Amino acid sequence: MPLSPVTSPPLNSAQQHFVEQLLSKMTLDEKIGQMTQPEKNSVTPADVTRLGLGSVLSGGGGNPDPNTPAEWRGMVTAFQEGALASRLGIPLLYGVDAVHGHNNVVGATIFPHNIGLGAARDADLVRRIGRATALEVVATGVRWTFAPAVSIPQDVRWGRSYEGYSQDSALVSELAVALIDGLKGDGWNSPTAVLPSVKHYVADAAATWGSSKRVNRQALAEAQNAAQTTDQTLAIAHMDQSFVELLKLGAWQIDQGDAEIDEATLRAVHLAPYRAALEAGALNVMASYSSWQGLKMHAHQYLLTDVLKDELGFEGFVVSDWEGIDQIYPGDYDRCVVASINAGIDMVMVPFDAERFIGSLRRAVQGGEVFPARIDDAVRRILTAKVALNLFENPRTDPALLELVGCSAHRTLAREAAAKSLVLLKNEGDALPLRRNTSPLLVAGPDADDVGVQCGGWTVSWMGGRGPTTPGTSILQGLRHTLGAEQVQYSADGQLPVDTEYEVGLVVLAEEPYAEGMGDRANLHLSADQVALLRRVRARCQRLVVVLLSGRPLLITDELPHWDAFVAAWLPGTEGEGVADVLCGDVPFTGRLSFDWPQSAEDLPRREDGSALFRMGAGLNS
Ligand code: GLC
Repeated sequence: MPLSPVTSPPLNSAQQHFVEQLLSKMTLDEKIGQMTQPEKNSVTPADVTRLGLGSVLSGGGGNPDPNTPAEWRGMVTAFQEGALASRLGIPLLYGVDAVHGHNNVVGATIFPHNIGLGAARDADLVRRIGRATALEVVATGVRWTFAPAVSIPQDVRWGRSYEGYSQDSALVSELAVALIDGLKGDGWNSPTAVLPSVKHYVADAAATWGSSKRVNRQALAEAQNAAQTTDQTLAIAHMDQSFVELLKLGAWQIDQGDAEIDEATLRAVHLAPYRAALEAGALNVMASYSSWQGLKMHAHQYLLTDVLKDELGFEGFVVSDWEGIDQIYPGDYDRCVVASINAGIDMVMVPFDAERFIGSLRRAVQGGEVFPARIDDAVRRILTAKVALNLFENPRTDPALLELVGCSAHRTLAREAAAKSLVLLKNEGDALPLRRNTSPLLVAGPDADDVGVQCGGWTVSWMGGRGPTTPGTSILQGLRHTLGAEQVQYSADGQLPVDTEYEVGLVVLAEEPYAEGMGDRANLHLSADQVALLRRVRARCQRLVVVLLSGRPLLITDELPHWDAFVAAWLPGTEGEGVADVLCGDVPFTGRLSFDWPQSAEDLPRREDGSALFRMGAGLNS
């Protein structure tokens, strides 16, 4: 069933004329330069000038040192000045993964990840988050974020489940459009508009467990660890022996795998949010690493060109994912370049070796394997986005915006979002809300006092990590601010003096932060240490409240009967006080599950006729 084409043309006729005029002046190398996006550590501003590069990106953790908003702005501005100094002075589009705030930047406001925003089901909230994020991003000179993900996770063993708003396609469309509206602000041509990247096209979240070929396990088994492999991406992620342990837990089993679904399902479920995003004016789409029916999305001409560009009328540009084209024909780079560009990739994210890509595409054009018309089409699309953002008139951003990075107004918004994202799934004996001025509350678990854990992946570094990685308040700090420090006793390990008994014990459990395929897990049960902690606290309190910080539903069916109350808190971000606000009754519980909560491993992947411990839409009011 074809979808109707979008009706919102991005440029007026004068702007279209400007693009054509500019295109007509460009050499082949300048056109290919616009199609090239290296990572900031592999190029200098002088390279940007020399090669006429169209974009530079920071990957997850691609930070300046020191990692401050001002240093970020200095870094990005230098690259922009490099672009403006090129022969034609075509402004640069710098791209980052600002997927839950400007999350690479220490000091930025970190909002709940999308799975929590899906539970909040508040489009206006997401719009306001988009606007606040845009201001913090533009403050650092950046005008492009690789968000929103419109993934619709079918199997929550997938490490990117938390990047999806929901398993409900309509809710994903609604919230993605809200974020895009927030990023756009007063219009794409306004000075604080940020170009969104709708990702990952298409059906990235429909892969089958075990179908990923991202990691050559045999090769890794021979290498002592990932650092010795030729896989630069895994090496720079500092994958040491723990990487091999992650592989044993299921890492890279499903991420970047193959979606075996039929076309009707692909269109009805996974394509629908793209049409909504295009209608909202999105001018960039990122191709998925995954495959559909065995063919890599980065080489899928039917879906990239016939469907997205011709049927849906998309006039923006498609960017590849990080080294995404390399996976089409591993080891035969020139063939990858030809296949991806001819399929409809317009800009290539080539993190490590821009000139290798440039040379390969130049040879392909000169050899007649890629037609000049395809190059012109790709560059026209890239220039269309840059003109729509008014980059030619306004390539620099206002440094005064730097004071907005991590500002109190944005943190208040993040606190509101954290509160609205929590889902109360059990509350017996009125265990919640926690009451003031009663006997001391016991809070237990190392994750109760850890801002890094409550932010999750894509925070300062690619995978995120434990500890005070960025300014914020932990859940424990929030509880102490709300209830008074004297009323809150804390035990990280739950090892308590023999004669202590508590009316209420609150245990915070969390997943270790992860990103992408590093977070694929075969087993979604709580760990033995977590179960032991729960048992220790259970034995010493009359009522047990459990708060789970996770990027997905976990298998808690066996433990849930021993809990008096249970709250799904997802990955709430830097403002732990928002969690305390709801636990203490200052803000009501309003969140509702945006995913089915599996009862057992048999419910993975999700099936319409499958069972569930809790269904999408579940959630109690306090
Ligand atoms: C990553 C992710 C993508 C991200 C890109 C740039 O591998 O797949 O979501 O935007 O690379 O960091």
